[in-house]
Amino acid sequence: MTPEHPIILCGFTSSGKTTIGKLLSEQLGLPFYDTDQMLIEHYKMTIPEIFAEGGESLFRDYEHEIARQVCGLGPSVVSTGGGMLTFDRNGEILAKSGTIFYIDRPFEDCYRNLALHPERPLFKNHTKEEIENTYLTRRGLYKKYAKYNIPNTGEPQDAAEKICALL
Ligand code: S3P
Repeated sequence: MTPEHPIILCGFTSSGKTTIGKLLSEQLGLPFYDTDQMLIEHYKMTIPEIFAEGGESLFRDYEHEIARQVCGLGPSVVSTGGGMLTFDRNGEILAKSGTIFYIDRPFEDCYRNLALHPERPLFKNHTKEEIENTYLTRRGLYKKYAKYNIPNTGEPQDAAEKICALL
């Protein structure tokens, strides 16, 4: 069944949100949005440029504006940045805008992937242990706003199918 509101994917960085989201959008014939990409296009700045100009707090303000824009999207698949749901003001808006799915991937798998993209400003200069602590804290916040928990331990297609079965 095609949902009337956005299917919103949340989860830690490198958990597979974008890959799974693109598969879902193809299979359901819905447009795909990525909140980081929306933010970059809206503000015409890259994420490292935003962090360089105003630090994390400016990035979070911009990200909040993008959360508000998700409300107006209509039927679609939306992948959110890893920090989006860790702010109640975004979680509350997004939970009302669509159905949130938590892409639940084990830390080691996320970390392996993250290590290939060291440019992400929030994780740049942090030890593995610090990143794991962030992962553990965020898990509770993702679960707070997600309607469904989608384990992602195998192929992205398996996770996409689990989501389709819940629509
Ligand atoms: C962030 C995750 C990134 C991006 C920004 C901050 C975070 O998105 O929004 O660098 O706080 O975890 P991805 O989850 O797509 O990497």
